[in-house]
Amino acid sequence: MRNKVTKAIFPVAGLGTRFLPATKSVPKEIMTLVDRPLIQYAIDEARAAGIKEFIFVTSRGKGALEDYFDHAPTLEQELRKKGKNDLLEVLKNTNMESGAIAYIRQHKALGLGHAVWCARRLIGDEPFAVILPDDVIAAEKPCLQQMVEAYEETGGNMVAAMEVPPEKASSYGMLDIAEDMGNMVDVKGMVEKPETSKSPSNLAVIGRYILSPHVLKNLNKIKSGSGGEIQLTDAIAAEIEQNRKVYGYRFSGQRFDCGSKSGFLQATVSFGLAREDLRDDLSAYLRDIMSVDAAAQ
Ligand code: G1P
Repeated sequence: MRNKVTKAIFPVAGLGTRFLPATKSVPKEIMTLVDRPLIQYAIDEARAAGIKEFIFVTSRGKGALEDYFDHAPTLEQELRKKGKNDLLEVLKNTNMESGAIAYIRQHKALGLGHAVWCARRLIGDEPFAVILPDDVIAAEKPCLQQMVEAYEETGGNMVAAMEVPPEKASSYGMLDIAEDMGNMVDVKGMVEKPETSKSPSNLAVIGRYILSPHVLKNLNKIKSGSGGEIQLTDAIAAEIEQNRKVYGYRFSGQRFDCGSKSGFLQATVSFGLAREDLRDDLSAYLRDIMSVDAAAQ
């Protein structure tokens, strides 16, 4: 039997400079889509995929994340006293079983590969997931769950994949495809943020990974790569050189790049429109401003 994937790493050490001044005092992952912080979407997706242990790789100034996943006795007591059971229910998803969540500090910003490597002792010798909370994916079946189901058949390593316009290749890890099997591709190489003309395909890695523990061993040896950082992409590509499998999984769903302002705004509108309690107001407003905009042109 293949090992079940029960551990996930959430790299959350980044400074979030693209969202300054907000991120001067609020961790980027606490920034809110409608009424839930980004990190809550990532945790909910992990839970749906069967993850039981949540490992956060953090840095200085991320204390709000620890508080967010802690009980809030005064608040809960107050809500209970007022009979606000619906709100108590909403808070339930922010609670973690004792011991289910761990925080490790990445002492230096040496890149995503280094952040994942910081969690190596908590992973041990098991396959594990990595979720980048900046990539928010709206899907009927949560993306990581789709991948875990596919991984149960394939084993190896699996990365979420999505076609991107050629001029965007330099923002992503890009896949070199050996065989395209539809929603799954067999990967023969990976390049982190190539120049447009050097990208092996238009298929980009999106921030969901299921990785073999060998990748952590590879990270022991990886030298800094693209942007002078230790790249997770390079440690996964090394798996291929060592004759282990890497698959790209074309997930179904819509991905929002919440690491960019425009992506964050798009996600806010889209998640707002998906909410029954907000849909009518928000769509009426959007129609209004669009027609004013059209009339002005
Ligand atoms: C990271 C990875 C990259 C991947 C991307 C997906 O880059 O290094 O391979 O394609 O996430 O969002 P970042 O966006 O953190 O620079």
